[in-house]
Amino acid sequence: GAAGHIEDFAFSFEGPFGKYDELQLQRGLKVYTEVCAACHGLEHVAIRSLADKGGPALPEDQVRAYAKGLAPVALPDGEERARETSDHFPASGLPTAPDLSLMAKARSGFHGPYGLGINQFVNGIGGPEYIASLLTGYTGNEKEEAGSTFYENTAFPGGWIAMAPPLASDGLVEYDDGHANTARAMAEDVTAFLMWTAEPKMMARKQAGFTAVIFLSILAVLLYLTNKKLWSGIK
Ligand code: HEM
Repeated sequence: GAAGHIEDFAFSFEGPFGKYDELQLQRGLKVYTEVCAACHGLEHVAIRSLADKGGPALPEDQVRAYAKGLAPVALPDGEERARETSDHFPASGLPTAPDLSLMAKARSGFHGPYGLGINQFVNGIGGPEYIASLLTGYTGNEKEEAGSTFYENTAFPGGWIAMAPPLASDGLVEYDDGHANTARAMAEDVTAFLMWTAEPKMMARKQAGFTAVIFLSILAVLLYLTNKKLWSGIK
């Protein structure tokens, strides 16, 4: 079939001036929490980072309330305690569902041509495009094999995935900001959130790169003028 088909979604964080969209990350967190977290975990993500500027930027009291609502932390003595903002998100509850903390950087959407990687050079690695294409790529066909159900998916390598379509219908999650909650919008929002979990400092990195380019441009001009002046008597 058409396995490995990746759609080029337009995300706000693409390009040298791209930024995460705070409200989109908040919506994506909600989709993650209400849908994906039933099976998947985010064990490398600190809950307190939900308050980060440049990230979801949730108010501190909401972050505290969010932590309390998560599964408690198991202690070595068999007891449990409430999860706190200084803890990480819970790990995957379903052992066969991979942790999603770094998934947006662990997968790629663009390849080739001919192994040259030019598509990735031009369009980026395409991890978010892969995830969004996966979430929107179910054909509706199913098959049973060795006692398990597999779902046909046009993005998944091999074409059949063991994850049932998590965003099968519009309106699964109610958004607080009034944004459209079609299946496609929810897929885009949770993907943006997963890009943020995988690369929370992206905006700081782009900013630093931009500063470096300006600095080096000015330095180049000054060195050029210095060089001219130093050698002016000899020419
Ligand atoms: C795999 C995302 C909900 C069970 C995956 C993968 C991603 C993903 C990116 C990795 C695919 C790959 O290996 O390339 C999501 C998102 C969800 C969601 C964003 C919410 C919108 C769920 C739910 C379940 C589930 C609710 C369980 C009912 C699984 C399983 C796999 C998987 C079992 C492994 C599939 C395989 O390797 O064949 N998911 N997932 N996921 N997910 Fe989900």
